[in-house]
Amino acid sequence: MRVVTAADLTLEPQVAAHAEEMFVVLSDPAIYEYENQPPPSVDWLRARYAKLESRFSPEGQEQWLNWVIRLPSSQLIGFVQATVRSRGRASIAYELASAHWGQGLASQAVQAMIGELVGHYQVRSLSAVLKSANGRSRRLLERLGFALATPEQHVRHRVEPDELLMKRAIRRP
Ligand SMILES: CC(C)(COP(=O)(O)OP(=O)(O)OC[C@H]1O[C@@H](n2cnc3c(N)ncnc32)[C@H](O)[C@@H]1OP(=O)(O)O)[C@@H](O)C(=O)NCCC(=O)NCCS
Repeated sequence: MRVVTAADLTLEPQVAAHAEEMFVVLSDPAIYEYENQPPPSVDWLRARYAKLESRFSPEGQEQWLNWVIRLPSSQLIGFVQATVRSRGRASIAYELASAHWGQGLASQAVQAMIGELVGHYQVRSLSAVLKSANGRSRRLLERLGFALATPEQHVRHRVEPDELLMKRAIRRP
C-alpha cells in the first residue's frame, strides 16, 4: 500500500502504531449515530490494526485496504477503507471525527482513495452500503457520482431493509 496525497490531507496505510491516536478519534459518539460502536480499548484497536496489516481477508480472497486520514497539521481525523474483490469490484467505507465534518474533507479523502483504487488496484466498480437514515453519507456518495442500486441489486447483495446500496462504475479511458 502507498501513501496517497490530496490537496488538504494525506492518506497513510493504517498500521498498529496508529492505534493510540486513532482510539481518541474513534471514541467520538457522533460517528455511531446510525451503526457500529467505538473500539472498546486501545489494546483491542492495536491488535485489530496489527491483524489488518496483512492487507488480506482471513481466506486471502479479498484485499482489505485501510488508510488513516492525516491533516497537514499532522492530526489524524479518521479513516477510509476498501474491500477489493475479483473482477475489479470494491466496496468502500469511511469515518471521520465529527469536528471535521462539513468541510468536504471526507469527500476529498474518499475521492483520493478511489483514484488509488482505480489507478493501482484495477478497480472498475465501486459500491457502498449505508443506513437509509444516514443523509450525510448518502450526500457524500452522490457528490462522488454514486447512484442508488436497483431493487434487484439490493436483493442480490442481501442489503438489510433499513440500508441502501449505492454504486458507481468507473468508465474506461
Ligand atoms: C459520512 C461522513 C464521512 C460525511 O462527512 P461530511 O463532512 O459530511 O462529508 P463531506 O466531506 O462530503 O462534506 C460535505 C459537507 O461539507 C461542505 N463543504 C464545505 N466545503 C466543501 C468542499 N470544498 N467540498 C465539498 N463539500 C464542502 C458541504 O457543503 C457539505 O455540508 P452539508 O453536510 O452541510 O451539506 C461523516 O458524517 C461521518 O464520518 N459519519 C460517521 C461515520 C459514517 O456514517 N460513515 C459512513 C458509513 S456508510
